[in-house]
Amino acid sequence: MTPYRTKILIVDDDPDIREVIRDRLKAMRFEVMVASDGIEALAKLREDAPSITLLDLQMPKKGGLEVLKEAREEGLETTAIVITAYGTIDKAVEAMRAGAYDFLTKPFSPGHLEVVIGKALEREGLRRENLLLSAEVKGKDQPIIGHSPLIRNAVELVKRAAASHSTILLLGETGTGKEVFARAIHQWSPRRDKPFVVVNCVALSEELLESELFGHERGAFTGAHRMKQGRLELADGGTAFLDEIGDLKPRLQAKLLRVLQEHEFERVGGTKPIRVDLRFVAATNRRLDKAMREGLFREDLFFRLSVVTVPLPPLRDRPEDIVPLVNHFLARLCGELGKRIKEITPEGWELLKRYRWPGNVRELANITERAVVLSEEDRITSDDLPLGGIIGSSGFAVLEAPAGFHEAVVVYKRQLIRETLQRFGGNQSRAAGALGLQRTYLSRLIKELHVREKN
Ligand SMILES: Nc1ncnc2c1ncn2[C@@H]1O[C@H](COP(=O)(O)OP(=O)(O)OP(=O)(O)O)[C@@H](O)[C@H]1O
Ligand SMILES: [Mg+2]
Repeated sequence: MTPYRTKILIVDDDPDIREVIRDRLKAMRFEVMVASDGIEALAKLREDAPSITLLDLQMPKKGGLEVLKEAREEGLETTAIVITAYGTIDKAVEAMRAGAYDFLTKPFSPGHLEVVIGKALEREGLRRENLLLSAEVKGKDQPIIGHSPLIRNAVELVKRAAASHSTILLLGETGTGKEVFARAIHQWSPRRDKPFVVVNCVALSEELLESELFGHERGAFTGAHRMKQGRLELADGGTAFLDEIGDLKPRLQAKLLRVLQEHEFERVGGTKPIRVDLRFVAATNRRLDKAMREGLFREDLFFRLSVVTVPLPPLRDRPEDIVPLVNHFLARLCGELGKRIKEITPEGWELLKRYRWPGNVRELANITERAVVLSEEDRITSDDLPLGGIIGSSGFAVLEAPAGFHEAVVVYKRQLIRETLQRFGGNQSRAAGALGLQRTYLSRLIKELHVREKN
């Protein structure tokens, strides 16, 4: 399960508008993609299945209305918000009849955009809850694979702690299994029949996250037409999983601290205290000690959260887990696809075991899936595993006749960045995480080294 990050598609033939909206949505931590005409838009809808689509109505080639109709015919689900020029409300009405959920009139303010997105997210939330439900059923028998002492120790520790009400803090790089462990904790706890809710602390803007966590009263802000219960209230009696807690803004850190200390909070815009009985599990891939020293994370909150701290080891520190994990993914995938389980050639295994796995188990699962789907025979060979070009047998880059040391280093950097970006679908934050770089530094490198995504 990938961390939930809402995907939004922006469709507009005006590059300036695309850029303004994109920057705004990126700042709100959405995963953003763009299309400049209707044909491209349909292709993106098929490929990327964005949850929300901002759709300009007037475009050359294929207009927004046609896109809506075709998307509906093809059964492509997305919450569409149409963008119309001021004074063409009738067009918006027609679009709503064709299945659009809401509309925005140009020119609009960032605040207006945020409200409309907020409403669409609320609807998405409802749709997602259904998905979550089925994901949770699946999650129930998601075993924790691996027999390395490192992973077994983590499982033992978590099993003992699960029985108590203690807050548990899961620390680990991206893809190490934090969410898998959080779900397991809930299943092993006396609260297993109560709700398990996930709140991702980076997927939303601060205001939306606040109302997601604590709910809001009617009229608390523009666009709050109804009272809404927050996730913490809905999870009463169960487990709340606070993912990416290291990114929580100071104001919300203070509010959360109060919930941990006093088990109560108020909805946004409300005065009535709401009492909850919750077990908290938090996770982050950030260095919280560093964040505390820099004054970005409250110490008192850290101590409350870290009653039991469980570090999840990166895959490169437990290479003995690679074989059982790959076998597990192979069996699951081939089962799902109704295929005979494929064998991996000795060279293929060699490659899998030698690679450093910066994206950890998630990357291993993705690479295995890709190989199962793309390999043509019953065997998976090293050609089906695109790892060799990145790290050679000695751990150095495999390069073709480099011109000299400095040139070789540049080529290697470019190649490494490109491959990592591709692996994370172009998501710079996650690529930066896997490479152990600051995202801002990574974007600078991309510019300086002229990294293009495809070559
Ligand atoms: N020990 C494990 N056994 C089986 N599958 C695992 C294990 N660890 C991780 N996975 C799988 O790897 C993928 C990533 O795991 P998960 O989402 O829990 O990672 P994460 O630590 O939350 O990553 P991120 O920090 O990027 O959110 C999932 O598909 C998960 O099912
Ligand atoms: Mg996660």
